[in-house]
Amino acid sequence: MKKVILDCDPGHDDAMALLMAIASEKIDLLAVTTSAGNQKPEKTFANARKLLALAKKEEIPVAMGASKPLRRELIIAEEVHGETGLDGAELPEPSVAARQISANDLIADILRNSEEKVTLIATGPLTNIAIFLLSHPELKEKIEQISFMGGACFGGNYSPHAEFNIYVDPEAADIVVKSGVSVAMFGLDVTLKAQLFERDIQEIREIGNQVAVTMADLLDFFHLTTTVPFWADENHVEGIHMHDPCAVAYVIDPTLFKVYPMNVQVETGENLSLGSTVVDYDNVLGREKNVSVGFEVDLPRFRELVMDTMKYFND
Ligand code: BDR
Ligand code: CA
Repeated sequence: MKKVILDCDPGHDDAMALLMAIASEKIDLLAVTTSAGNQKPEKTFANARKLLALAKKEEIPVAMGASKPLRRELIIAEEVHGETGLDGAELPEPSVAARQISANDLIADILRNSEEKVTLIATGPLTNIAIFLLSHPELKEKIEQISFMGGACFGGNYSPHAEFNIYVDPEAADIVVKSGVSVAMFGLDVTLKAQLFERDIQEIREIGNQVAVTMADLLDFFHLTTTVPFWADENHVEGIHMHDPCAVAYVIDPTLFKVYPMNVQVETGENLSLGSTVVDYDNVLGREKNVSVGFEVDLPRFRELVMDTMKYFND
């Protein structure tokens, strides 16, 4: 079992990522920390706590992270995730009091006291991870790997060249890819291929437990914001993009993905490609291959992992 801390900004796809981490027998989920991204920090924190209440896993500690990016004002994705950050379903209120520990202190405490190395999975802007790396360099060696959803080799979804999580806090992403820690990146190149379809939502709903029915409602809402590729003809059916679960699924079973080591830098300059991950796909620079970049997913097996996740829960 891998020791894992999940840093997330729920968020519909973050919700699936969190449930996947809880349900997997390959993951020992030590803590959840929340980033400001899809919604304001108080909302993503509340959502993470509600999701743990839904999953009946409130013993897993949750801590709130930074309220804004390292050097920029916060940008949120209300148009994608709604006013609550998890629009589309009713979630139970937490039944335990919120912890008064910061994400940074919680991550540090866990790593300091862990005999085994700990994997950090990030599915929101990388602010908390960067703050941790800067404030606790002595604990870097305790990190097994950082697996994050963000960036793209080709394209973008917030600007023509930038994906949302990296655009929100490019300075944080820059710190992470330069950290010297083993880093795996699941950007749009692969996450746009990790799709669920209407029939999958239906199958999830029919599983029938409270988690699955709630997730089906959340997916229905998330589906409304699915972007269709420019080349799609009238016969093309674009599924729901399960971005964040990719970063978790890789930790559960790396054979689900094709990843390649490449040099990755982050554009932090105020120009057209601000927030883009500059991936040296053809190794033209010959620089250190500092990031394992995901490009392909085994969709049938990924889908099976999603279904197994939903079946894990019972009422
Ligand atoms: C990323 O942005 C967020 O809206 C999603 O939760 C995901 O982490 C996709 O670009
Ligand atoms: Ca997210």
